Amino acid sequence: MDAPAAGVPAPPPNSVTTDPTALVVFQPSGKRGRFAHGTPVLDAARELGVQIESVCGGRGICGRCQITVAEGQFAKFGITSSEDRLSPKGFIENRYDEKRGLAADRRLSCTARIEGDLVVDVPDASIVAGQTIRKDANTIGMIRNTALRLCYVELPEPDLETPVGDADRLAAEIELEFGYENVEVPFHLIADVQRAMREAKCQVTACVDISGARPTVISVFNGYQEEMCGLAVDIGSTTVAAHLVDLMNGEILGSAGRANPQIRFGEDLMSRVSYVMMNDGGRERLTDAIRLCVNELTTELLDKTGRDRSHLLEAVFVCNPVMHHLFLGLDPTPLGQAPFNPAVSHAVRPEAADLQLEFAPNARVYMLPIVAGHVGADAAAVALAQQPQIKTKPVLIVDVGTNAEILLWDGKTLFAASSPTGPALEGAEISSGQRAAPGAIERIRIDPETLAPRYRVIGSTLWSDEVGFVESVAGTGVTGVCGSGIIEVVGEMLLAGIISPDGIIRAPQNESETSRLVGQGRTWAYVISENNPRLMITQNDIRAIQLAKAALYAGVKLLMDKANILSLDDIRLAGAFGSYIDPQYAELLGLVPDCPADKVLAVGNAAGQGALKALLDLDARREIEATVTRIIKIETALEPEFQTHFVNAMGLPNSKEPFELTRKHFGLPDLSPPDDGKRRRRSRRNRD
Ligand code: FES
Repeated sequence: MDAPAAGVPAPPPNSVTTDPTALVVFQPSGKRGRFAHGTPVLDAARELGVQIESVCGGRGICGRCQITVAEGQFAKFGITSSEDRLSPKGFIENRYDEKRGLAADRRLSCTARIEGDLVVDVPDASIVAGQTIRKDANTIGMIRNTALRLCYVELPEPDLETPVGDADRLAAEIELEFGYENVEVPFHLIADVQRAMREAKCQVTACVDISGARPTVISVFNGYQEEMCGLAVDIGSTTVAAHLVDLMNGEILGSAGRANPQIRFGEDLMSRVSYVMMNDGGRERLTDAIRLCVNELTTELLDKTGRDRSHLLEAVFVCNPVMHHLFLGLDPTPLGQAPFNPAVSHAVRPEAADLQLEFAPNARVYMLPIVAGHVGADAAAVALAQQPQIKTKPVLIVDVGTNAEILLWDGKTLFAASSPTGPALEGAEISSGQRAAPGAIERIRIDPETLAPRYRVIGSTLWSDEVGFVESVAGTGVTGVCGSGIIEVVGEMLLAGIISPDGIIRAPQNESETSRLVGQGRTWAYVISENNPRLMITQNDIRAIQLAKAALYAGVKLLMDKANILSLDDIRLAGAFGSYIDPQYAELLGLVPDCPADKVLAVGNAAGQGALKALLDLDARREIEATVTRIIKIETALEPEFQTHFVNAMGLPNSKEPFELTRKHFGLPDLSPPDDGKRRRRSRRNRD
């Protein structure tokens, strides 16, 4: 329990005192002190450093300062009387209760006054830096300690006696009532302040950004205003995902996503950089495309949630370095060649208008820092969300996407790299591949005797050989294979002996196999479905997956080499796609190092989680800004060993490394002695 932070020191429990002050204990922090009778509870809390929220400056309007007084006697604190602990409800609380409702056990701490010893329970919703309380899977447990604060003030009308400017009076009042020091009203906001003060008779709500060296007013509203929301956006090479968040309680109001429109200029990052290099105005076109996409997502979310654009005051973005540069309007071409120097690597905080973002006027943007020229703010966000540094044992985190972000914590140091896997692992550039959407095959099993597949598609819980499957997919059909399905189909083809460990699709060996293995020029293809559309996996598809997974694994191996780590038993797959890969198939393909399959966990969209965390918690921004300076960055393109690891990783699961646990799990023969070329019928154990 914390010691008293301020106020009059509390006496030891059970001591007898004639002190005219009252003992106040705030829970759950346990901070306590003695205060004169008549002191507002909010003042006592502030003096002790208990950060109870207030938007209205204690005027009984916002209701954000609510507390509960614990009933009963508390011998451990020396509180033995339960009489007259707080002043009775007065006009202000009754008025608030009438207008907005106040639960019977709740009091407004700004008006309730201390009249006796008491234990005060401060609900999470009333604590600045409290945990978010809504049962939302994405922000639950995150700390809400926002960079922006709303401050309502009521100033006297100007008079001849006090000829002080509106902006100066506003800053002084915010300092007085909310305890901020040296508040700045920037020049471009002075006209707004003047207008609001005149129109609203000097009763205005200022939005103050407390993240910089000086608290700065960024927006001013007429009268009392208590809505403020923000966006957390993950700009991936392939997809853009955004969450609209209520900054007053941490609730995610809505989420939306769409394909990154820059795809039309190039599927992968380097082809987009090439587009910029080869085309006049190319950079501007790519910048405009992504900003337009963010604006469209914003409008969609505001429409969907009924929120007003004027209340969208902050946004946090995470993305890889190329996306980062293009979104900020910076030239990405130096990122395409050694030394891969970014234009800026620290966190930046432009105004939304600087980026042509259609948020509230004067809204702010926070872009997480870049780790290195090839390792972006998305990797920083993954580190922020996953916190590998709190573990004493090694942790590997792989954010699987068009560009894979790899983080390795060895117990003392955090290493990071990025590997250009390309879009194949997400189902793109695969002949029957598609984005994850209803109708896409996401799970598949192949019978090693008949080579017949059975599969499940997104939108149906039934397998294709179960009764009712056809009806369940009547609305979508079976349209393609998404990323997780591609991983599984390649793994199953290996297990069924359709492909060799070096990825060659074999020819049919009897009549019955000719419907499944069909000729494609000089190579063979495996047919999953003859229905419209015909779905099959070609030799080129297998090659594309091998190249992608080899690039990813080579990056992982490089980091393991640097950290001198031979094995791992905490591997986390992140990313919108990584989270859907069945970990045992990730092992089977050799995407990640050999380890027990139950030690490979899918952790969701960690970069997006990191963006949410940075949006809600100012301290999280400080933390990641410090962390990135300590990360050891590895540029895979400059490491001679990368090529060796890459070539070895082309095999399934690997041409050189034994992958003993994985082979044992799937009943694969040992790597050595070398494969005798016989067609293998695999055990089907452990994979359903
Ligand atoms: Fe606003 Fe108490 S601080 S109602």
